[in-house]
Amino acid sequence: MRTSALLLLAFAGNSFAQTAVVESPNSQIKVTISDENSTPSYAISFKNKPAINASRLGFEFKTQAAFRDGFKITHVKQQSVNTQWQQPWGERQTVTDKHNEVAVTFAKNEPNGATYTVRFRAFDSGVGFRYEVPKQAGFDQTHITKELTEFAINNNNNATAWWIPARGWNRYEYVYNTTALNDVPLAHTPFTLKTNDGTHISIHEAALVDYAGMVLNQRRPGTFNADLTPWSDGIAVKKQGAFNTPWRTIQIADSAVGLVNSDIILNLNEPNKLGDVSWVKPGKYVGIWWGMHINTQTWGSGEKHGATTQTTKYYMDFAAEYGFDGVLVEGWNIGWDGDWFFNGDVFSFTQPYDDFDIAALTQYGKQKGVQLIGHHETSGNVSNYRDQMDEAFALYEKSNVSQVKTGYVADGGNIKRIDENGIARHEWHDGQFMVNEYLYNVKLAAKHKISINTHEPIKDTGLRRTYPNWIAREGARGQEFNAWGTPPNPPEHIPMLAFTRMLAGPMDFTPGIFDMGFNGLGDDTNRPQTTLAKQLALYVVLYSPIQMAADLPKNYLAKPDAFQFIQDVPTDWQQSIALDGEVGDFIVFARKERKRDKYSGNDWYLGAVTDEKARTIEVKLDFLEKGKKFEAHIYQDGKNAEWKNNPYDLDIKKRVVSANDKLTLKLATSGGTAIRFKAL
Ligand code: NOJ
Ligand code: CA
Repeated sequence: MRTSALLLLAFAGNSFAQTAVVESPNSQIKVTISDENSTPSYAISFKNKPAINASRLGFEFKTQAAFRDGFKITHVKQQSVNTQWQQPWGERQTVTDKHNEVAVTFAKNEPNGATYTVRFRAFDSGVGFRYEVPKQAGFDQTHITKELTEFAINNNNNATAWWIPARGWNRYEYVYNTTALNDVPLAHTPFTLKTNDGTHISIHEAALVDYAGMVLNQRRPGTFNADLTPWSDGIAVKKQGAFNTPWRTIQIADSAVGLVNSDIILNLNEPNKLGDVSWVKPGKYVGIWWGMHINTQTWGSGEKHGATTQTTKYYMDFAAEYGFDGVLVEGWNIGWDGDWFFNGDVFSFTQPYDDFDIAALTQYGKQKGVQLIGHHETSGNVSNYRDQMDEAFALYEKSNVSQVKTGYVADGGNIKRIDENGIARHEWHDGQFMVNEYLYNVKLAAKHKISINTHEPIKDTGLRRTYPNWIAREGARGQEFNAWGTPPNPPEHIPMLAFTRMLAGPMDFTPGIFDMGFNGLGDDTNRPQTTLAKQLALYVVLYSPIQMAADLPKNYLAKPDAFQFIQDVPTDWQQSIALDGEVGDFIVFARKERKRDKYSGNDWYLGAVTDEKARTIEVKLDFLEKGKKFEAHIYQDGKNAEWKNNPYDLDIKKRVVSANDKLTLKLATSGGTAIRFKAL
């Protein structure tokens, strides 16, 4: 292996600058860390061209002197790793972690001054770095007021970015923007961009634990600052003693799918801390849910109450018959009457409504081999939830529930907590307080062998590796926006998510709406702006170990042939490959099922989706095992399909294929193709 880190003395200006270098294993990515002008900085090149220009590193603190100017590199330590690890569930079973690392220590030239180490890891698909503040004098308590990390994009004047705004009232639930990079204001991560030479970059973070979420603030054209979402008192981060920050990640690839085919976020997280997690189960579910979103049912009590014993039994029967593992029931507990959005203080997490017999349903589910999936909506009143959380999980554990969907519906900045003095404070969903609150919930759930699917979450940073019961989350506009959002999700939404939000981890999007005409078709109503084939393709394109069949049972029974694909498709994969795509335009995924339960582990699946443009895509089937034959069950847009007025035109056919074949996929406007390759 080549030398991966060197300490150089270079003459720069009037001072000698020290430099440390670390290269990716394939040598295409090179990080240079420098103390030129006594200012800690890093720069990244990709294929010998600058990608990130010299960018500042450092912090400002409330009481301690800043880690900013006057610092020199005092120590450099290098390491190389090439290992593999196994996921209990995931996009692939075996993950390779191959990287070179350099840990660079900075200090001032003064006795007993503070030191800071910045650890860089260079992978073939990008770079991660984090700060490490050791136990040292004056740092028993640290309040970070500002992180100074910059990301200075080279070639910024000719770059395009895909992003959603940060610190907005609607958290992460915005339509994605496509703009010139230089026009981006405050943006969330994963933040994806492309320069005019085709280099794709995505900035995000990994292992966000006990720290504020980072958003990107463009301070000068092309230069983004790590902007930490503060506490209600204005402090960014509060720490005791030694600490490490989350990893700042910069994925770099020369194609859009290169960003997707990367495990850098998972690799930068700590291994599983929960031990045996065989109780964490991927699977598919249906639920008493969509009816509330399209107003045919209610969460609250009354005539249209969705969560009744009778309706739940009907869903359990349906689930058992068609191979679903669980039935989500929302609106089962006291607190939904009146305006639940504002009255979160009155939610009980243990008291069912009178017409919901949880004990009877636990028994019924056991007979049928179907589990109840729990639901805890907080309306952002986290102290009310915290007070009841242990009992709430105990009730669900007793009721054979192994998965709970949580909800934190509240405007951004308006999460309510009661502090130690009994005073109400209002926090962001992505500040340090809530980062800790979400993880507290996941860890407590683990004690009850319960997995968590967080809605209105903190963004995903790969913590599923460490806590595999954090099984999915929302954190972007999901299907629900098609019921009532203004506007509903546009046709490009899915190919946008694939290259942005989905880089972070699984999303509980809740695909599979079969009746798009609940308000009428066309382009000016609330409805999924897709074809039926595209709804099927979502099960392959949008990775999640739990997938909902979100529509009402009667709408599946009305289209049994299309419904077959949802019954067949697994949610746990041996391997996943993004084959082709462009950000916001289209994406094609192939995934091989993982052996578990009724899945043999031999079948492959393909999902392709497009934006508002119809397109023809050639796909080589060379991902299939050579010499094997597969029966391809192809669900594609019919000849006359187009999303606005003819979304249901679906053409289903079967043909035998092998690795030598090519398929020509014809996608309608906002269309898709879903294929099961059944091993013969
Ligand atoms: C928002 C969630 O995303 C949605 O799925 C849920 O139905 C509502 N909150 C109510 O909890
Ligand atoms: Ca939501």
